[in-house]
Amino acid sequence: MIPLKSPSEIGILRENGKRLARVLESLCAEVAPDVDTASLDQIAEGLIREAGGEPAFKGYRGYPASICTSINHEVVHGIPSPRRHLREGDILSIDIGLLRDGLYADVATTVPVGKIGESARHLLRVTEEGLWRGIERATIGARLSDVSHAIGSYVESEGLYVVTEYVGHGVGRQLHEDPQIPNYGRPGRGPRLQAGMVLAIEPMVKTDPEPTRVLDDRWTVVTGNGGLAAHFEHTIVLTETGVDVVTQGGDGRRSGQTR
Ligand code: MF3
Ligand code: CO
Repeated sequence: MIPLKSPSEIGILRENGKRLARVLESLCAEVAPDVDTASLDQIAEGLIREAGGEPAFKGYRGYPASICTSINHEVVHGIPSPRRHLREGDILSIDIGLLRDGLYADVATTVPVGKIGESARHLLRVTEEGLWRGIERATIGARLSDVSHAIGSYVESEGLYVVTEYVGHGVGRQLHEDPQIPNYGRPGRGPRLQAGMVLAIEPMVKTDPEPTRVLDDRWTVVTGNGGLAAHFEHTIVLTETGVDVVTQGGDGRRSGQTR
């Protein structure tokens, strides 16, 4: 069952998304060579609480931090650590969630640390574009797998591979609600999208086709062969008047347009 949100819930989700977008923007400004990921986690928790929210991930299924920090070949769910220092040339995926007034917002981005190589730049550009291709398809009356197909077919056309083991999801009163949103598949399947649905669309993309693995810490997902991975996510709200990308920052349609 896909829960539909009321206008008042949608109002809160919009506000939460706006606040979370600002938090992520401030956090990304702290990313630099030598910074360790536990420091980023501490900063993130402070920013979330200043914004009037609670870190959505902390304690979720026992997760120990407020953000996920996944570097290079790490795909998602990397645990922040004081021993993990960023280095020039790394790519860092930051995944962050905020809970306020009983409703969750969920967002992720991948940022370069200093100057990065050409294949990493391509990976970031394609993953973010894949997210926007999916968002564009998320219109009322479309089928859910139209979104999945738009993402997967674009990523493949660029010679990259979507992660199939993890998916996007509904979001709202719970961090993860129905429906699951794969980043691949044939169009024209699954439920029709309706006003009041709130979706977290989140392509995870890698440079190689091998299946992912989970490390012994039971959280960190890594690529099968050490290739790079990227992750972009937005929470979107479907309304009668169109799609609202609630976790989008203030600087235009796509944050990474300058890349
Ligand atoms: N943002 C992640 C998702 O969309 C959730 C992170 S799971 C956690 O599925 F345990 F790390 F919080
Ligand atoms: Co999510």
